[in-house]
Amino acid sequence: MSEYQAVGKVEDFDEGVGRAFAVNERMVAVFRRGDQFFAIDDICPHMGASLAEGHLEAETVSCPWHAWRFCIRDGTWEDNPRIKIDSFPVRVENGEVQVLVEPRQPKV
Ligand code: FES
Repeated sequence: MSEYQAVGKVEDFDEGVGRAFAVNERMVAVFRRGDQFFAIDDICPHMGASLAEGHLEAETVSCPWHAWRFCIRDGTWEDNPRIKIDSFPVRVENGEVQVLVEPRQPKV
């Protein structure tokens, strides 16, 4: 069972600019929209670009390499909504942004 982990202070995050963090051996992209924070898998499933470096418009981030688009709220691939990347719960506690990331289960 995982616990929330801090990735920075609220003021460390600029509106519309993603930041990538390693949490529980996964790369997580964190975005700020006003007072809300969102976290999704940072690794684009196409060819592995960092989605934190993508362009954010409303709740959609476009991959910086080939512009695949993902919803930062739930990870939905906007061009094929049947497919999702992982999204993660985010909370703010005492001015600290915290994410809850379960480690990947080992494949058997
Ligand atoms: S690596 Fe993200 S769209 Fe190609």
